[in-house]
Amino acid sequence: MKHLISTRDLSRAEAIQILDVAEEMREAGTREVKKLPALRGRTVVNLFFEDSTRTRISFEAAAKRLSADVINFSAKGSSVSKGESLKDTAQTLLAIGADAVVIRHPASGAPARLAATDWIDLPIVNAGDGMHEHPTQALLDAFTLRRQLALRENVSPLGRGLDGLKVAIVGDILHSRVARSNLWLLRTLGAEVTMVAPPTLLPVGSGNWPCTISYDLDSVLNAGVDAVMMLRVQGERMKAAYFPNPREYSRYWGLDDARLGRLNASGMDTLILHPGPMNRGLEISSAAADSDRALVLEQVTNGVAVRMASLYLLLSGDLTKESSL
Ligand code: NCD
Repeated sequence: MKHLISTRDLSRAEAIQILDVAEEMREAGTREVKKLPALRGRTVVNLFFEDSTRTRISFEAAAKRLSADVINFSAKGSSVSKGESLKDTAQTLLAIGADAVVIRHPASGAPARLAATDWIDLPIVNAGDGMHEHPTQALLDAFTLRRQLALRENVSPLGRGLDGLKVAIVGDILHSRVARSNLWLLRTLGAEVTMVAPPTLLPVGSGNWPCTISYDLDSVLNAGVDAVMMLRVQGERMKAAYFPNPREYSRYWGLDDARLGRLNASGMDTLILHPGPMNRGLEISSAAADSDRALVLEQVTNGVAVRMASLYLLLSGDLTKESSL
């Protein structure tokens, strides 16, 4: 594998390899000296054409922990606001001496375009493109789930998939690249996925996805799931009224205090994930976000390890001679 554009491109073996290398990276992150020399002398450029807090910082931390140099580029305040094309921006990066490009872009397909052209010949990592994909988010979610399950069962997470795990992905599926990347990866790893959303927030064609679709959060939670992944309501991508009002959204589709209470009373150990940033009080209540079941900060911690593994495997194939990565 030369680029990381979509989780759809990952075989099970490749996905598990990234998760296994991320375990080593996470372990290194608990040492007193967290830095590894693996990418010394290499330069990673973070090319962000869309707002981001955790993803950009996470990629920066990941590259720095591997001893790479990092150049952060955000479209605001750059020549992109003067109308510079993606091609010119990309070629400028090459001329500067970049070794890998991490790109977030509002247009679905921008990272794939960069990877497919001869503008630059560098590994490209998709850090979220429009409503398409966000592969490292899905990898860090899978990593987080796998780790929790291994802890519960008191076994090593290494080499394992997520076979038989039941995951509900809830909310604004229509605008969510996180939902799409998670669907493909969770399926590859053997999990069963249910998408829960109002009909207005499900994309055309989702009926053909390899998942169950439900409009009823309570029945999905009552039937029992191992994890529920709440999605942010992406107001900035909404140009129409997709639901009557926030109160109604949260009553029907939110993980509110009442649903958390029922989960707690049920004795089920359903885990709660959210990629952040959270709209507290809308798709998730504060009590749910801060509960013992919630893995939101664990996801952020694991994100660094997963991005270290991704950058490492893309930039220095030597650890993985026997694999196709
Ligand atoms: C997600 C994104 O940007 O796609 N956030 C993230 O990367 N942590 C989800 C979102 O913005 O809702």
